[in-house]
Amino acid sequence: MDILLLITQELRRLEETKTYKYETPLRSPQAGIVKVGGKEVVMLASNNYLGLSDHPVVKKAAIEGIKQYGYGVASVRFLCGTQEIHLQLEKKISQFVGCEDTILFSSCFAANEGFFASLVNEKLGCEEYQDVLYSDRLNHASIIDGQRLCRPENVDKKIYNHADMANLERLLEEDKDQEYRFKIIATDGVFSMEGDLAPLSSIVRLAQKYNAMVFVDDSHAIGVCGNSGRGTPEATSTLGMIDVLTGTLGKAIGGAAGGYISGKKEMISYLRQKSRPYTFSNSLPPSIIFGAMAAFDLLSKDRSLVTKLHENTAYFRREIKALGFTILEGDHPIVPIMLGEAAVAQDMSAALLKAGVYIKGLWFPVVPKGEARLRGQVSASLRKKDIDRALEAFAKVGKKMRVI
Ligand SMILES: Cc1ncc(COP(=O)(O)O)c(C=O)c1O
Repeated sequence: MDILLLITQELRRLEETKTYKYETPLRSPQAGIVKVGGKEVVMLASNNYLGLSDHPVVKKAAIEGIKQYGYGVASVRFLCGTQEIHLQLEKKISQFVGCEDTILFSSCFAANEGFFASLVNEKLGCEEYQDVLYSDRLNHASIIDGQRLCRPENVDKKIYNHADMANLERLLEEDKDQEYRFKIIATDGVFSMEGDLAPLSSIVRLAQKYNAMVFVDDSHAIGVCGNSGRGTPEATSTLGMIDVLTGTLGKAIGGAAGGYISGKKEMISYLRQKSRPYTFSNSLPPSIIFGAMAAFDLLSKDRSLVTKLHENTAYFRREIKALGFTILEGDHPIVPIMLGEAAVAQDMSAALLKAGVYIKGLWFPVVPKGEARLRGQVSASLRKKDIDRALEAFAKVGKKMRVI
């Protein structure tokens, strides 16, 4: 078989079915207003929720990190790749999210990939055992891949319908008399395609009732949800009740890179021994460590960025609906604007870019067939006049394409 011929055919098929993912490069930092080609456009597609990607305090800290600790660490953590600053950032994250301890990873994808197998694939003194994972249908790819790394003979994987607590309870009830070693309920804190929050208080209640552990990936919630940006546990009054909390430093917390797992100190110490992406992958560089610490310090001192983000989100959600667009309701800065067909989402994203708005479409298989959408993402870095400019473009393009 000619591999290049086959993949070229597949690329053509993706283009023809309008499911090809186009990259539109920026000629500027990530910010409320970015440059595409020579043109300035309003950014509504980034995870730069708090505008920290180009924040002077964060940038200054990152430069200081390089000056004091160098460009790279050139080692994994357990050999010689732990600088004191890695431990300081881990402590800062633990304090911010209200957990006993934290372990850093090169990304949240790596953190999620490393978590499940490090428990399920280890005997931990049990010669015969079976574990069970309950996973929300819309969980992020990294949770799914993490669970795929678990040895199938030792784990039962059960998918519950998205945020459907009756369905989750039915599965837990069915398993009540099974002698599972570990039961783990895994969910995104905020679902990246829908912008909705997991019903964490119900999940915690079910976990207590059925003796399960709760795993939450708060990547789209850290710095975003709750009055002080502590994430979905703050927004759902479950602070301190989540067993394992993962997140990224690659979105609201400066947007560079890095991920973490927070939880009980024994769990984190164990992951330092057994988690493969931690053991076998390079340490985060000092610029990122310093930048992330500055971001957490900013957030701890002052809620104004989080408040601004919440105000901008409420304004955009209200006004885009007033124009006649259908959105998925909620209060998260991820605002899915529902369009139906992939081709409409792709054409509208291109038309909006021409009209001065950078926003991307999502379609099958990323979202279900017939539920193609534009995913708006609001940021604290947007001024009211930027949002108004985007809304004007939406009105013009929406009417022209007969979507409104
Ligand atoms: C819910 C969720 N988890 C994990 C990740 C991966 O994070 P990172 O970019 O740090 O690997 C993402 C990023 O898209 C995400 O949305």
